Amino acid sequence: MSAIGYTIDADKILTLTIDMPGQSANTMNSDFREALSETADKVKADIDTIRGIIITSAKKTFFAGGDLNELFKVTRADAAMFERMVTDLKADMRAIETCGKPVVAAINGSALGGGLEICLACHHRVALDDDSIQLGLPEVTLGLLPGGGGTQRLPRMIGLEAAFPFLMEGRKVNPKAAVKAGIVDELAASAEDLMAKARAFINANPTCQQPWDQKGFRFPGGAPHHPAMAQKLAIAPAMLKQKTRGCYPAPERILSAAVEGAQVDYDNGDRIETRYFTELVIGQVAKNMTGTFWFQLNAIKAGESRPKGIGKARFSKVGVLGAGMMGAGIAYATATRGINVVLKDVSMEKAQKGKRYSENLLAKKVSRGHLTEQEKAATLDRITAAADSDDLTGCDLVIEAVFEDSGLKAKVTQEAEPRMANGGIFASNTSTIPITQLAEATAKPENFIGLHFFSPVDKMQLVEIIVGDKTSDDTLARAFDYVQQIGKIPIVVNDSRGFFTSRVFGTFVNEGVAMLGEGIHPASIENAGLLAGMPVGPLAVSDEVSLTLIQHIRDQSRKDLEAAGKEWQSHPAEAVIDTLVNEHGRKGKAAGAGFYDYPASGKKSLWPALTDVFVDQLQAPRVALQELKDRILFIQAIETVRCLEEGVLRTVEDANVGSIFGIGFAPWTGGAIQFINQYGVRAFAERAGELAAKYGERFTPPKLLLEKAENNTALA
Ligand code: NAI
Repeated sequence: MSAIGYTIDADKILTLTIDMPGQSANTMNSDFREALSETADKVKADIDTIRGIIITSAKKTFFAGGDLNELFKVTRADAAMFERMVTDLKADMRAIETCGKPVVAAINGSALGGGLEICLACHHRVALDDDSIQLGLPEVTLGLLPGGGGTQRLPRMIGLEAAFPFLMEGRKVNPKAAVKAGIVDELAASAEDLMAKARAFINANPTCQQPWDQKGFRFPGGAPHHPAMAQKLAIAPAMLKQKTRGCYPAPERILSAAVEGAQVDYDNGDRIETRYFTELVIGQVAKNMTGTFWFQLNAIKAGESRPKGIGKARFSKVGVLGAGMMGAGIAYATATRGINVVLKDVSMEKAQKGKRYSENLLAKKVSRGHLTEQEKAATLDRITAAADSDDLTGCDLVIEAVFEDSGLKAKVTQEAEPRMANGGIFASNTSTIPITQLAEATAKPENFIGLHFFSPVDKMQLVEIIVGDKTSDDTLARAFDYVQQIGKIPIVVNDSRGFFTSRVFGTFVNEGVAMLGEGIHPASIENAGLLAGMPVGPLAVSDEVSLTLIQHIRDQSRKDLEAAGKEWQSHPAEAVIDTLVNEHGRKGKAAGAGFYDYPASGKKSLWPALTDVFVDQLQAPRVALQELKDRILFIQAIETVRCLEEGVLRTVEDANVGSIFGIGFAPWTGGAIQFINQYGVRAFAERAGELAAKYGERFTPPKLLLEKAENNTALA
């Protein structure tokens, strides 16, 4: 069976139905390419007997896009072959586009990447008016570019400026928004209407040619040489660089392909695109991003870290203890996914305040037109503010987010436990206290688990699930199902101080702060963090966390370690934080002063006296930027290897995905372990050794890393 059905009806309309055998979704692989090539030949042969062409899909989605399994394997040695293959594929698309007869895309499901590019190569696009349908070119999010003509056709359709968010940010829209953006021409109410409208276009347009193939074509919004456009394009690379910090080749190549391609005819533009596409496909950043954001994330979503053979749980009533910043966020995240929530605090007033947090977020959505008043009311109705433990009766999950105090946590656990539904599970959102220790307060430690959310809960997609010594597989599976039910990404880690994310995050903050103690200029430290690909500099993020909280966590950890008869390894960052807090009263952002000044109006800026206190202007060390960037990424990657070695982390997938979504580890690397693998494990171990010699034992490569370095094998 061919991947593209070919039927000419009594009206002489040819319908091409994409239906790739043996696949749930259509993708642009070798089967598709072969079928398209045959189709292009047949169209040529039948051209005099047909009046027009409709392209549609037999699957639930129209077309999913490029075949990532195939793209992921393309190496530098395959570059010439790959370029030829893409050129051939595009020639077949082009042959249909220029056949002279009208070609209509009947978009009956989501069309992403190569799928939307097929639609763009048509003369007219009709889409089913269904808000769940997504249209877009998400290649950039995987380090790639739309290589099926997307960087050429879209700007020629809607103008360069309007095309940029779709091309360079991977913006996706539903059919209604696509009509507004000028990507789709018409909406259809039903499958029948879709085909009827496609036919009507053919009936009304016996011949068709794309605007860009017509003489005198004028680029919408102006071609690059148009003065207004030229002015905008002159600053576009700088604006882009400010966002990518030079870490992401894909948006840069997309900009080049679109702008350079816009200065030549369509076919030469297509050629320019193919070359940039090939360069990206064989490049390391695309491998990093596709590997983690596609393959590893999908493995996590498919339940790789979930115990096998346990039926899926669905939650209908969840209790949240503590309606503070985290509790209020957890209640929102749960209620918006259709689950009833009891939000309990010490007083009705506090509980109501926590509920108001949801009300405010929902009101914002209503004002932006993303939600109706009824939907808002329905979600709010699901949240019951409470001050009485009896309201927790029948909860199948209770999550506590009260103050970080083990005594208080024990008390609220014991209050809630007897009221829960049979077989219900209890979770703590503690950020620092070991789960095994907290579980001692419960009658059923096997039903106790850690669910570590990140702030702000409504935006942060990750939840770190922490398995205590006695937590059962059944409880883990249920907790995993809850995290997925609220649409977040679960990673699973074993119990340890700071778990995984906080531990690694701590090394990032400490490394940056230690640099200041060495006399490195604070602006250089912050820039090194950003240029390494971290979303925020280490000093700014320390302020966010609060310098006193950093002190508090450190003191508590030291106490616990010493109580366990272990030695505390002091870190050079400690003295810097103590100087700032104890001598200068600068406690962080919430207190209005930390490494930065926070004026009541206006932007924050580094505290000018920071350099007087820490930087000797005459003898400031001259350190290469690369050295600072390396320190920032290496220290986190090394700590991640330690977590793997100690069994805190169970899988490399959890390590990579957790590091990016939990702490913002530079996404271009594909995560903290992929950073090592792509650097070369042996080379990484050698460089870590150099850093250890200069900056201390914290950089010493762990045993697991040295073992892998011996044969230069990837951490997997
Ligand atoms: P918060 O101070 O904003 O909220 C704590 C709430 O617990 C307050 O509303 C308080 O009235 C309430 N509470 C106290 N005793 C209670 C009781 N007996 N019953 C019911 N409620 C009671 O604190 P936040 O930031 O929301 O943190 C809560 C927990 O989440 C802590 O364990 C913290 O370590 C953890 N966490 C915090 C993160 C953050 O970024 N703030 C991130 C991840 C975890």
